[in-house]
Amino acid sequence: MPRLAVLGHPVSHSRSPAMQNAALAELGMGEEWAYEAIEVAPDAFEARVRSMPGEDFAGANVTVPHKGAALALADALSETAREIGAANTLSFAGGEIRADNTDADGLLQSLPASPTGKRALVLGAGGAARAVVWALLREGAAVNVWNRTESRSANLCAELGGEPDSAPDQGEYELLVQTTAVGLGGEDPFAELPLDAGGFGPGQVVVDLVYGNEPSRLLAAAEAAGAAVVDGIEVLVQQGALSLQIWTGREAPLDAMRAAARRPPSP
Ligand code: ATR
Repeated sequence: MPRLAVLGHPVSHSRSPAMQNAALAELGMGEEWAYEAIEVAPDAFEARVRSMPGEDFAGANVTVPHKGAALALADALSETAREIGAANTLSFAGGEIRADNTDADGLLQSLPASPTGKRALVLGAGGAARAVVWALLREGAAVNVWNRTESRSANLCAELGGEPDSAPDQGEYELLVQTTAVGLGGEDPFAELPLDAGGFGPGQVVVDLVYGNEPSRLLAAAEAAGAAVVDGIEVLVQQGALSLQIWTGREAPLDAMRAAARRPPSP
């Protein structure tokens, strides 16, 4: 029986098991395949991954804080994972550990229109921002990066491209992608980020990778001002769909995945 998992620390909040098991059921593979959450601390990560092929695992998603470690231990890397410097998808076949990154294409799939030629602002310079900046640059967007700690946005742009912007004018951008942790702990995005609630408008696309049960304050304000919005659950669904395709070779059932990912977790 092929097994799949998400490895994280913490991981109990992850919606990937519900979403991926719903996908497997929809594909008629639910009797055979199963997807679970595995809590693993950083110092135990490598040993845990290396034991997985012998335990019938076909693959795994990797989330915070293991995306760099996943890349480092792999035998083979996709071009995308290597260039971003992080992996969110591992596959075990033929005794080899292969690392991919579906965060970048997942973000692109979730956008309502191509970012080619668009002016984009990425907020944040952590691991999530790297995949977003890389994806938008590959598609030919003009990317500026703001981060609270300016040295990190400067380093990210020096490595991947794009231009740091320490005082962005939000009205200038056609696409804004919020990749920081702001909102996860109830922080006010308009106090922590260089954005005004009233500064959005029609013609803009606003993405917030932070998700919960309610629309984020950022997306609520953007939508009220007429901007198109994409929430973190849609991006989660799209990256998960691409991972599922890598492991099973099957086209992912997006509607079943969305419905499961949007169902609030039971307490
Ligand atoms: P991830 O892999 O999820 O991107 P990370 O690498 O820890 O996580 O990065 C967290 C991001 O959230 C960083 O850009 C961080 O900004 P700093 O580099 O200045 O730490 C940002 N962040 C976290 N809390 C924030 C806050 N209250 N205001 C602004 N940015 C914040």
